[in-house]
Amino acid sequence: MTERLGMHTLTEGRGLLFGGDYNPEQWPEKVWAEDAELMRAAGVNLVTVGVFSWARLEPEPGKHDFGWLDRVLDLMAANGIAVDLATPTASPPPWLGHRWPETLPVDEGGHRLWYGSRNQFCPSSPVYRERALAIAGALADRYAGHPALALWHVGNELGEVCHCDVSAEAFRGWLRARYGDLGTLNEAWGTTFWSQGYGDWAEVLPPRRAPYIVNPSQRLDWWRFSSDALLGHFRAERDVLRARTPDVPVTTNFMGFFKRADYWSFAAEEDVVANDWYPEPGDPLSPARTALTHDLMRGLAGGRPWLLMEQSTSAVNWRPHNLPKPPGQLRLESLQAVARGADGLCYFQWRASRFGAERFHAAMVPHAGADTRLHAEVRAHGQELRGLAALAGEPVPARVAMVFGWENWWALEERGRPSDRLNAVDQLLAYYVPFFERGVSVDVVPPSADLSSYALVVVPNLFLVADGDAEALSAYVRGGGVLVVGPFSGVVDPRGHVRTGPFPAPLREVLGASGEEWLPAPDDRPVRCRWSGGAEFTASTWTELLRAEGAEVVAEFTEGDLAGRPAVTRHRAGPGPGEGPGEGPGEGVAWYVGTMPEPAALGALAARVLADAGVEGAVPELPPGVEAVRRGEVLFLLNHGATTVRVPLQEAAEDLLTAAPAQDAVTLAPRAVAALRRLP
Ligand code: GLA
Repeated sequence: MTERLGMHTLTEGRGLLFGGDYNPEQWPEKVWAEDAELMRAAGVNLVTVGVFSWARLEPEPGKHDFGWLDRVLDLMAANGIAVDLATPTASPPPWLGHRWPETLPVDEGGHRLWYGSRNQFCPSSPVYRERALAIAGALADRYAGHPALALWHVGNELGEVCHCDVSAEAFRGWLRARYGDLGTLNEAWGTTFWSQGYGDWAEVLPPRRAPYIVNPSQRLDWWRFSSDALLGHFRAERDVLRARTPDVPVTTNFMGFFKRADYWSFAAEEDVVANDWYPEPGDPLSPARTALTHDLMRGLAGGRPWLLMEQSTSAVNWRPHNLPKPPGQLRLESLQAVARGADGLCYFQWRASRFGAERFHAAMVPHAGADTRLHAEVRAHGQELRGLAALAGEPVPARVAMVFGWENWWALEERGRPSDRLNAVDQLLAYYVPFFERGVSVDVVPPSADLSSYALVVVPNLFLVADGDAEALSAYVRGGGVLVVGPFSGVVDPRGHVRTGPFPAPLREVLGASGEEWLPAPDDRPVRCRWSGGAEFTASTWTELLRAEGAEVVAEFTEGDLAGRPAVTRHRAGPGPGEGPGEGPGEGVAWYVGTMPEPAALGALAARVLADAGVEGAVPELPPGVEAVRRGEVLFLLNHGATTVRVPLQEAAEDLLTAAPAQDAVTLAPRAVAALRRLP
């Protein structure tokens, strides 16, 4: 993230941003005037324009038609609505694939993917790159200095991978830069296994469909390369835009926990972090998963505000069965993002499409028009956001960090592992939920983060760990931090090679515990365990044969071969100067969890580690279903549950949303939100 340009560039003078994707090319111009009027009435101050308009802007190679877009931007400027102008490169026109089929992506099995939908490009294709940069440059030349232009939006949801011959050559170039020579590549990929030694660079390929399990180290580098190829494309477009409009921030829209692109590396290269997020309506974990995703965005933004670029006013159309949002849900979800650091709340899309693949996707203006329940809700929400303008730029302080990295995700979820039941994002969410339920704010950070400002660091899984990152975690504990490490961590190095010796080898000393076998458990049999205090709990899926080496055994397995062996350990960093064992100031604590405890047991664990770290939730008593999070001076309480609840307060406050005073408690109906500012 750059400091100079960012969300503040957009919110200054505007307050929180509200709007959505605007696709006027799908409508006759007479509709545009009504659009502008409705936008103003709804408090819209930002629209994303042009995402899918390449064929309209450049109907033939090199021949441009900007007249219609001139009129759109002028209309927006005249109505005081800022434009997030997209480069249209996510959906090349048919002429590109028709004339240059090598720009079309090829899947793992060697099949070319055709036009007729969108996203049909090979990120490594020089022809695609040339044409994409040309249209991006033409747009920037034309609209540099236009009063509506506030933000650049590169492509859309960058996520393509391609296995074609051009990509293979680019992959080889990437590998040469990483390893230098073939000998080092062979070593890194462990090619003595299954006779995979490469004698010529020309033999090296992307992991294409093969008869059996493909080399995991080759695949790990392929993930890295594919992410870098997308990033390389993003950078190239960004640089074209920056050269022409150095004062206009540049973004691209993320997709939450999206596996193919390492967003830590993307975030470092853009001015604004933006995300598209569509919570699954039927999933009881949606509120927590959404909160976690928002916290990831704040982490990507380095703690600064971020932009919710796309959400839906009601049902999407791309799930098999698309549940609508009940009245009030739109507001609840949008305010949840505000509470977690979003300074912009935008939707896909402004006006529902009459044709095309997304005819049945909800919008801010539905097919039935503006005189509808849904549009009235949109309008009321837009107006309400104006009253929260003072929140723009406010931070969401957190004393707890959770570590999440893409390399680990890629490395962990390869075929040929002990169990495919242990997955990176599921594991992260399982550890996140008890903190969410207790109203404890969490920052999501990369494995290489500076951890010194956190009282507690949770590492739900770190299967792949670099030496330096393992050392930083150990140093964090030696410096007085509280660390929790989940199962199957510290297993491989950055090449994907297993670290030999008792595991987790590079963390063994700080954890004061080690293991010798990973032991997945039968799916239909809960694993019985007991806390040292006597209470019993169950775990599932995964166990490990552990021994304590200085750590206290906090929970043990109680049946089968593992009966009496450690399940959870806790290790003090060591006695303070001149003291016996104890927990004097400056002493760190390191926990290891060698199984997958049931949610209630993870809750008990969270309570213990929070006590070790001296961290408390935003309110002392939080009824089930209620989310509590502080942003700046404001305490947000959001009721995701199905019943009306009463939340006790410690101090008198005023609700910024209703202007009502709150004395010792607030009552929240289902889907209600309170934004409480302490009374002076
Ligand atoms: C994504 C895309 C949009 C649209 C929506 C539909 O987020 O960026 O163009 O397809 O999904 O939900």
